[in-house]
Amino acid sequence: MSLLIRNAEIVNVGTRAHGDIYVENETITRIGKDLQAPPDAEIIDAKGQPAFPGFIDPHVHIYLPFMATFAKDTHETGSIAALIGGTTTYIEMVCPNRNDDALAGYQLWKSKAEGNSACDYAFHMSVTKFVAETESQLRQIVADGTASFKIFLAYKNFFGVDDGEMYQTLELAKRLGVITTAHCENAELVARLQQKLLSEGKIGPEWHEPSRPESVEAEGTGRFATFLENTGATGYVVHLSCEPALNAALAAKKRGVKISVESVLPHFLVDKTYAERPGVEGMKHVMSPPLRAKHNQDVLWQALAAGSVDTVGTDHCPFDLEQKLLGRDSFVSIPNGIPGIEDRVNLLYTHGVKRGRIDLDRFVDSASTRAAKLFGLFPRKGTIAVGSDADLVIYDTNYRAKVSAKTQHVNNDYSGFEGMDIEGRPSVVTVRGKVQVRDGKFVGERGRGKMLKREPCHF
Ligand code: URP
Ligand code: ZN
Ligand code: ZN
Repeated sequence: MSLLIRNAEIVNVGTRAHGDIYVENETITRIGKDLQAPPDAEIIDAKGQPAFPGFIDPHVHIYLPFMATFAKDTHETGSIAALIGGTTTYIEMVCPNRNDDALAGYQLWKSKAEGNSACDYAFHMSVTKFVAETESQLRQIVADGTASFKIFLAYKNFFGVDDGEMYQTLELAKRLGVITTAHCENAELVARLQQKLLSEGKIGPEWHEPSRPESVEAEGTGRFATFLENTGATGYVVHLSCEPALNAALAAKKRGVKISVESVLPHFLVDKTYAERPGVEGMKHVMSPPLRAKHNQDVLWQALAAGSVDTVGTDHCPFDLEQKLLGRDSFVSIPNGIPGIEDRVNLLYTHGVKRGRIDLDRFVDSASTRAAKLFGLFPRKGTIAVGSDADLVIYDTNYRAKVSAKTQHVNNDYSGFEGMDIEGRPSVVTVRGKVQVRDGKFVGERGRGKMLKREPCHF
């Protein structure tokens, strides 16, 4: 199988080159001008449009039992939606709850993906308790190619770990050379504030944000950083939403703590007034950490431009309207999550690059390359280079549309970004040399996706 992409503006972080990309089997084997190909090669004319490295979403939920229900996508639906939006690799959170066995959970999550994903995938392994068998189980999971952990400081009695368990996880992660990702909110404060608000009769979705204020996230972020500092482990804050939390992470970084920051699509584009809408309209926009006061969006964009927000993920987590209505009598029962896997690249390009908030280098870096580097996928993924997997996105910069639930491929009945402008979309998406998407349509091979085995790289 060979593929020649002609006449592309090849965009990597820090470099642009006009030329051709030749792919044999699954790998890029030549990059240059006027490349020749055998007569049976598939040829695509990029017509001078950008060719980006396949985009990587470092934070998604596909299979997720959570808040008395299940997130709606399967790997079949989620991966096709991802690919149509230009994401060729996603990293899914394996999230057994505290009562589950971690290894059994890992096998279950793997079995859901195997043979069903159209894009490549990897896992972050959530550590939701630390008991006698945890170290040996985590060693097996790392040896199986899952070289990143996840901890939740939120979600008391479900996914959440206490400080002792956080210490044990980070101490082991340091020894294994594994990066630990963390949801940073103070679980005790959230539980207390939720109870206080409910006791005052405050039950609607507009009370979700006040139950998890910015200071609660800043405390969690600062505490995670302090634990990194004192274990020497490497950490990554997921879905950071607000200025005080960013300041806590950056202050730690300044004193030498090995910490990186992810922010996710909703926090750049929608603010807390969306969740303050009455009834199910507000519930659509309930996630944790919550949507914040609008000024935080500028803070996040500026930090993204400067590279102090490292990556942009989605925290893709679809629940439909019926599921959201589980919280009709109490905001604490609204399933937390907003879908975004299909829209991340196009919305980041439109509202970031086209609106002048970030340059093309930061776009490619934050949506692909930096995640590849942090999570042990580089240079196989995250760059267009000889020897890399041929995951390529030819981008149609002339495309114009609006986000709409009616046209989305995500398995959900609403979009959190309904009506937002899109100025560009992938015209061709390849996964390891195979064309999977053309102009918004999945044309490829279901089940092509492979689990990406990763080596520890944070010693
Ligand atoms: O609201 C969210 N973020 N839902 C998914 C679970 C998580 O915390 O990442
Ligand atoms: Zn989270
Ligand atoms: Zn998440």
